[in-house]
Amino acid sequence: MTKDLIDILQLSRDDIDALIAKAGDIIDHPDAYAHKCDGKKLATLFYEPSTRTRLSFESAMYELGGNVIGFSSATDSSVSKGESVADTARTVECFADIIAMRHPKEGAPYVAAGKVDIPVVNAGDGGHNHPTQTLTDLLTISREKGRLSDMVIGCCGDLKFGRTVHSLLEAMSRYENVRFVLISPEELKIPEHVRTEVLEKGNIAFEETDSLENAMPKLDVLYMTRVQRERFFNEADYLRLKDTYILTPDKLEHAKEDLSILHPLPRVNEISVEIDKDPRACYFRQVLYGKYIRMALILSLLGVD
Ligand code: NCD
Repeated sequence: MTKDLIDILQLSRDDIDALIAKAGDIIDHPDAYAHKCDGKKLATLFYEPSTRTRLSFESAMYELGGNVIGFSSATDSSVSKGESVADTARTVECFADIIAMRHPKEGAPYVAAGKVDIPVVNAGDGGHNHPTQTLTDLLTISREKGRLSDMVIGCCGDLKFGRTVHSLLEAMSRYENVRFVLISPEELKIPEHVRTEVLEKGNIAFEETDSLENAMPKLDVLYMTRVQRERFFNEADYLRLKDTYILTPDKLEHAKEDLSILHPLPRVNEISVEIDKDPRACYFRQVLYGKYIRMALILSLLGVD
């Protein structure tokens, strides 16, 4: 394992498989893990809003017997006085054993990681990457489908700014016979650097379309995403694109019986609430898997057996 987790490609397939196995063991034997991190502290440094990621990191540490310090908004800390990410990280290192950081600027957790000796986990950096969401997604797919190879995954929505999709594409280059259908309007297609550096370099099979209906019958997994309003340069573009895809029960008519519908959440309106009762809707189970995989990751980065 690496010291930090900034990009999912720092993990080999063996690393990922070991984390998934460890999360499975935690699910089966939670009591055995209740004191593994006694006396340890996690610092959550969140410069951008979050519900699931921060709370699941914090729950993960508490369930391991550890404690949590941190801030949930840049305005609550000396960042608002102009302190650099590097100085904040060096300060927090005096108090904590591991840092989880979310930041609107791409690369900020990487900068922090270079300044401190304790592990730093990227909890989302701008439109770039979100490796622990991807670990969550991998655990979800593996538990729901029983495999991570041999499948067609449809990613639908904002593939330009959606960092969770970028990390998921990277991770799947580790598994055999995974094909992607990338479903987005022209303006929200995956960025050029992801196409060349991730898809082409990783030899990942993919096709692009703007039609969710046409893609649906092929899919084993449908990964829905919200249009990332906060990353748009102008509101008019957001308003024009925000309702491009809305998953309603009629759209599932030609879907596979064993389709798994994932969403990193938060949902705005891209999945109708009527879908929630469909057994193929995995997104709330996915939230819970996020806690277990973060428990496994914290243990691994802290070197706790
Ligand atoms: C995602 C994120 O922050 O990138 N949310 C999450 O961490 N579960 C997805 C999103 O905000 O749309």
